[in-house]
Amino acid sequence: MEKIRAAITAVNAWVPDYVLTNAEIEKLVDTTDEWITSRTGIKERHILKGDGKGSSDIAVEAIKGLLQKRGIGPEEIELVICATTTPDMQFPATANIICDKVGMVNAFGYDINAACSGFIYSLVTGSKFIESGQYKKVIVVGVDKMSSIIDYTDRATCVIFGDGGGAVLLEPESSGNGIMDSILRSDGSGRVYLHQKAGGSVLPASHDTVDAKQHYVYQEGQAVFKFAVTKMADVSAEIMERNHLKAEDIAWLVPHQANKRIIDATANRMGLGNEKVMLNIERYGNTTNGTIPICLWEWEKRLHKGDVVILAAFGGGFTWGSVYLRWAYDTK
Ligand code: UT7
Repeated sequence: MEKIRAAITAVNAWVPDYVLTNAEIEKLVDTTDEWITSRTGIKERHILKGDGKGSSDIAVEAIKGLLQKRGIGPEEIELVICATTTPDMQFPATANIICDKVGMVNAFGYDINAACSGFIYSLVTGSKFIESGQYKKVIVVGVDKMSSIIDYTDRATCVIFGDGGGAVLLEPESSGNGIMDSILRSDGSGRVYLHQKAGGSVLPASHDTVDAKQHYVYQEGQAVFKFAVTKMADVSAEIMERNHLKAEDIAWLVPHQANKRIIDATANRMGLGNEKVMLNIERYGNTTNGTIPICLWEWEKRLHKGDVVILAAFGGGFTWGSVYLRWAYDTK
């Protein structure tokens, strides 16, 4: 009898309607479509408009669709883990707000903040609840409204990020598919290169912090790039090695979508051709915790039972990691 693993049994995502194109960004800051495309691979991103709307509203749409696809009711969900860097509020956890809005009255929920690696951190955490045997239906949702912390006068960051999110359902699986292995890493000394300066306990919000624009994303792009390009590739090669996986065994690489050049370097290191790499950064930009589940949702019909899939991410913290899973279902 195979051991009980956690398998993704449904996936769904949601992005807001409004599309912010490179042409529009050219009107906001001193940049060009050519610069953005060649340096990042991004052409457009989706932005959540409307007062009073937050990350939970994106998550709610993704989860409602997820439940519908799987044909189950909200009351059947036991746990919701929300990976987000842009929570609705400092507290309570966005997961709690999502549970309330969707009617997941029997679930407990909490947030995980690991910046762009949050979805894989949360997926691995959720899988342990399933493997324990105590939980049968766990939702992991990765979501961000990055536009809420972006300065649209800062060309170094405003071209990169977008809003969106996606959710997966984890259930027990004993057929040999599911989440097989993971490597998660962090190095807090990288915090100086990518962070939001104010609004936390070190520098609470004040008139001064607002005037100094300290509630926006601060990124030293080149320094982050150097770490991201090696760490994401290293960890993906490491998970292949320790599971004796060759390039030909792998059906799909699902990389965090931060920069096409980082994705290409990771795929090269793994020996994978472009045809095995999920890439949609062109249309969504970097949605932080949303990138990986949005990819899984877009490629769902091309994923087949037993496919070997590697997820890989790198983000603020620094945080990074990879997950090896065997896809558990065919889409009808
Ligand atoms: O998702 C979480 C982790 N984050 C990442 O993985 C992001 C990693 N970093 C990157 O993807 C890249 O570093 C960026 C896309 C952010 C920047 O690309 P880059 O090739 O590293 O550019 P750079 O920061 O070295 O800047 C090169 C030049 C500079 O001008 P000078 O000093 O050479 O005259 C910048 O001022 O490009 C300039 N620049 C721009 N020019 C036009 C910076 N942003 C822009 C812009 N448009 N939007």
